[in-house]
Amino acid sequence: MELRNSKTFENLKKAFIAECSARTRYEFVEYGQRAKGYESLAKITDEIAYQEFNHARMLYTHIEKVTEKTINNEEVCVSLPFRQRWNMEENLRLSASDEGDEAVFYLEAQKTAEEEGFLDIANLFKMIRQVELKHQKIFNYLYEKLKDGTLFKSQTSKRWTCPSCGYESMDKEAFEICPLCQAKMETLEIPLPRELML
Ligand SMILES: [Fe+2]
Ligand SMILES: [Fe+2]
Repeated sequence: MELRNSKTFENLKKAFIAECSARTRYEFVEYGQRAKGYESLAKITDEIAYQEFNHARMLYTHIEKVTEKTINNEEVCVSLPFRQRWNMEENLRLSASDEGDEAVFYLEAQKTAEEEGFLDIANLFKMIRQVELKHQKIFNYLYEKLKDGTLFKSQTSKRWTCPSCGYESMDKEAFEICPLCQAKMETLEIPLPRELML
């Protein structure tokens, strides 16, 4: 089967648009986090947004093999979420849910690509899906911790380092204000469980 006339080509275009949209939504989310002083949360969201960009970039490498032979614009019909607003906590919950939806799409797209014989593209869909599932877990983790007010708390004593001046403390909780430079707690690195580290 020619890629041009396949369902897989449609799925590639849909996935590309969805990745571009996810990236931009996460930039919005990040913008809101930064505006509230949550530098550390913004840093994680920014890394996820950048990973969405790279998903889009790799999808594009397959799309361009078809479209380089034409000057026509491509029509894409895709359903996208537009749910994130200015509530930082809610944005994390919604982003986790969006990642879950993406994972469902990629599983279907992978199966279709396998049926149509595009095994390299099926593998790309499979790899991206694995990352989206991790993104879902990270957003959920951050949502729960923010909701509980435990973003900067740990079960065991750990080292908290102020990124602004290098001051360090060993405690179960981070300092609210850095005693050396007055930086706020929200600028400190959020301790992610090992399996969720980016
Ligand atoms: Fe992605
Ligand atoms: Fe993602």
